[in-house]
Amino acid sequence: MKRRTFVSGSAALAAAGFAAGFTSAARAATIKPYSWDLSPPTDTRDNFIAWGKARGEDPVFLGQRWDRFQALLKNKDIWGAATIRAFLMTPREEFASVNPAIHKRAYEHAFLDIGWGVTMSGPHLQARMTNVIDVKRGEKVLEIGTGSGVQSAYIANLTDNAYTIEIIKPLGERTRGLYDKLIDKGYTEYQHVKSKVADGYYGWEEAAPFDKIIVTCGIDHVPPPLLQQLKAGGLMVIPVGPPGAQRVLKVAKTQGADGSITTSREDIYGGKIVPFVPFTKLEGDQIVGNHNR
Ligand SMILES: C[S@@+](CC[C@H](N)C(=O)[O-])C[C@H]1O[C@@H](n2cnc3c(N)ncnc32)[C@H](O)[C@@H]1O
Repeated sequence: MKRRTFVSGSAALAAAGFAAGFTSAARAATIKPYSWDLSPPTDTRDNFIAWGKARGEDPVFLGQRWDRFQALLKNKDIWGAATIRAFLMTPREEFASVNPAIHKRAYEHAFLDIGWGVTMSGPHLQARMTNVIDVKRGEKVLEIGTGSGVQSAYIANLTDNAYTIEIIKPLGERTRGLYDKLIDKGYTEYQHVKSKVADGYYGWEEAAPFDKIIVTCGIDHVPPPLLQQLKAGGLMVIPVGPPGAQRVLKVAKTQGADGSITTSREDIYGGKIVPFVPFTKLEGDQIVGNHNR
């Protein structure tokens, strides 16, 4: 784990030109530490807000989280009990804190600018992609494209064995710093996430194989190293297509009785185009172009 080399979250924020102090009041609060037994109510808005307040969270953001949850259900972007729990347990507002301009917009049905030319994906897309890979507790999951950190935050509520890779060094460092601050605050579930700054095209060889892989940047093919690092019986979700016009695919890898490996692909939006930030390429320590063929 490369956590020792990361600068603190506040230092990274300051380096990025953002007002590092604006979340300090919120961070003074103490959150009831994570446990797999924590079970947010799903019956009424009032019960959910009361439960979250008792954990130490902000009632205004809790109300927005509940309202977005209702929209996710209505739109059929969330369906599994474990993914519902993960959504209700995840403070998106903390991950949107990288940019003060989007902090209050964390629960909007939109992708949001987090700086460095990249975005935090919207809650509907993230819920659907998370549901599709159906993560079970204990499974090893790799995310390519840490970004704001919110996608791996959901995964940290599904398994204690998550890995995430970010190519933009200051962003990866900032998000690691944020996870560590949130762990100190009581969101101890983020101890489940190991992170590094690297080119995710090559996966995370030392930690492979993975039960599930989630790719959050767009590319025109499935990277062979990622397919190789996916277990037989595993699932990957990945946006594939030309720049700005990807389709989000569920890729299943299976092994036949004779040992042969096959893959099948299914579009999780039935053909709808979903534009993603490009899957860029590292040459030395510089990001140069992308991995499209
Ligand atoms: C849509 S954005 C962020 C998604 C993130 N999961 C979130 O919700 O905040 C995609 C991320 O992929 C990162 N990325 C692009 N190419 C990459 C690569 N080759 N390796 C690792 N990360 C990459 C981008 O820098 C960006 O942070």
